[in-house]
Amino acid sequence: MSSITVEALEKRFGSFVAVDGISFDVREGEIFGFLGPNGAGKSTTVNMLTCQLRPTGGTAHVKGIPLTDERGIRSIIGIVPQELALNDLLTAYQNLVLYGSLYGVSRVDAKRRALEMLEAMGLEKRKNDLVKDFSGGMKQRLNVVMALMHEPKVLFLDEPTTGMDPQARRMIWDFIRDINKRGTTIFLTTHYMEEADYLCNRVAIIDEGRIKAIDTPRALKRQIKGEDIIQIQVDEDERLLDDVKGIPNVKDALYANGMLKLFIEDRDGLLLDIATVLSGRSIVSISSAEPTLEDVFLSLTGKKLRD
Ligand SMILES: Nc1ncnc2c1ncn2[C@@H]1O[C@H](COP(=O)(O)OP(=O)(O)OP(=O)(O)O)[C@@H](O)[C@H]1O
Ligand SMILES: [Mg+2]
Repeated sequence: MSSITVEALEKRFGSFVAVDGISFDVREGEIFGFLGPNGAGKSTTVNMLTCQLRPTGGTAHVKGIPLTDERGIRSIIGIVPQELALNDLLTAYQNLVLYGSLYGVSRVDAKRRALEMLEAMGLEKRKNDLVKDFSGGMKQRLNVVMALMHEPKVLFLDEPTTGMDPQARRMIWDFIRDINKRGTTIFLTTHYMEEADYLCNRVAIIDEGRIKAIDTPRALKRQIKGEDIIQIQVDEDERLLDDVKGIPNVKDALYANGMLKLFIEDRDGLLLDIATVLSGRSIVSISSAEPTLEDVFLSLTGKKLRD
């Protein structure tokens, strides 16, 4: 069964098309990811699906409720916005209780739930501190749990872990998995391929307002051209790229942070060809690697997910 259905959804800003007629379904109980670079149209999509922005075309339903029924939608969804939705001059606890009461949670339930949420995020000791004195990561954690005060059936998270350190990110990931296990459908946007890979049952790869592919992370990685990747760490600059792209069986190549990545079709005779092209250059290491979602994105769009 579908939890979210989206048909030909479009958003234009003047003549600029930010979301270009996208269609997809999010299944009941799944963690669905929207993976794409800056400006891909992720927030615009989330904002339309959460009734914060009116589409210029197409339709969508959340749990069978059309976007035109704003009250209906808002009563069943939670939103973790990309921009923090906290009140700096209230304490963490007050923020949660206030948010709960805005969503019609009774005072008793709101208080109980606020404490649960603070504990889940390891913030219970800071519950009476003003949010303005929180670190960026602490604010982000609080921002995530706020959206769960009214126990929504569908949770939208817009880049919930951007800029977080690995430990805080892991905490958010575990938390998202946990609430998903307890029955909440999750729609999550990210530009971190590790996040999409680790968390999501299915991922839509989005670029320039269009969906390039939708599948499980595993299936996406399997479908990329070349199948195999050879990584070469090399003390060289990007000029090497053109040389290696000329090697037969090398379908594509990418260079980032001193690492050359070759997408290859067939290893036969390849190492010899590579050795010839690279002779005289200082190679630090050569290894083979499994494709990542970053590689999938590159092969679909010809671009890197991150700069
Ligand atoms: N109100 C607006 N008016 C004009 N253009 C807009 C508006 N909101 C968004 N856009 C444009 O639409 C495109 C998609 O923006 P959006 O915020 O959805 O991207 P995103 O995928 O969320 O990117 P990021 O990863 O940076 O958050 C961008 O080119 C952006 O400049
Ligand atoms: Mg965004």
